[in-house]
Amino acid sequence: LHAPSVGQWERGYALKAISNRLVGYEFIDKFQRELAKVCGVKHAIAMSSGTAALHIALLCVGVERDTSVIVPSLTFAATANAVDYCGALPHFVDCNFLLTGYQVDRYLALHPSHPSRPSAIVAVDLLGERIDTKELAKVANSRGLPLIEDAAEAMGNFYGMSGASAAILSFNNNKLVTTGGGGVLLTDDDDIAEWALKLSTTARTHHPWLVEHDRVAWNYRMSNICAAIGLAQLERLDEMKQAKQALRERYRQAFMEIDNVEFFGLPWLNCIAVANRDDVISALQEDGIAARALFTPLHRLPHFAHMPRSSDEMPLCEATWRSFLCLPSGPNFAI
Ligand SMILES: Cc1ncc(COP(=O)(O)O)c(C=O)c1O
Repeated sequence: LHAPSVGQWERGYALKAISNRLVGYEFIDKFQRELAKVCGVKHAIAMSSGTAALHIALLCVGVERDTSVIVPSLTFAATANAVDYCGALPHFVDCNFLLTGYQVDRYLALHPSHPSRPSAIVAVDLLGERIDTKELAKVANSRGLPLIEDAAEAMGNFYGMSGASAAILSFNNNKLVTTGGGGVLLTDDDDIAEWALKLSTTARTHHPWLVEHDRVAWNYRMSNICAAIGLAQLERLDEMKQAKQALRERYRQAFMEIDNVEFFGLPWLNCIAVANRDDVISALQEDGIAARALFTPLHRLPHFAHMPRSSDEMPLCEATWRSFLCLPSGPNFAI
């Protein structure tokens, strides 16, 4: 649906990483420095996936077993999976496109006596559209909860933290910047950065020759080869953004004659709302066009169906999901 653009430039960097015999951290350090600059944050800690980065971010702000974490239901499964990895329960809040502070506040006001203590809020930049974290941070602060921004889809649109304790990006194969699978934790907080590095590198102690660890932790570090590919991709960020923007413009032109075709999110993925989604997707697929639905809301998934949620019906999520349609969006895709 949206294959990445990877070529000579990436190959050159990957070969350099191999010729350095894979042992160094040279590209990881460079990639992290460049990411911090491009994203306007103090610290960038590269990891093996966006999900891993989200897991670590939740641990860093103190999410513990049997607590609850507020998440929107309209997101990719990884958002709630990371909560589950901490032994916590995702609580699904109903929202249309982007979660609002009002929706979270209302959820917390209406569900004050749930047995599990809320320990964090995760806001999602759906389709790369940056959420109003300032508004959500106000709600989070008033409730004494840390806010994490799942910005997995927001590469190229992330310029500075704005209220969240930490944010994560994904470099999965379908993202604007790919490392062939990877992610990063972004933060301005020195303590979170230090803790995130420790938790994602098996909690190795600082000693010149002893190999020791002082707690159970994770091996989530990004490899040097992946970081080399990522660095090459970052250097091509503007070019790839332009290619995506050009494709968005072509879709716009093509849909000019159809009333009310509105695009949601960044041109990273071309997502529109239609009245009869299933029929339109079937017709496009019959014509060999790989259209598909947006991810199914999490409250519908069998393993999450019993989790607490805003209401049985979740009308906002349901209406949005039923109308959203994703079109082929790879930077090399031509229409
Ligand atoms: C909203 C959201 N959160 C988290 C993730 C997880 O990232 P990764 O696939 O790198 O683990 C993704 C996508 O892949 C995503 O779209």
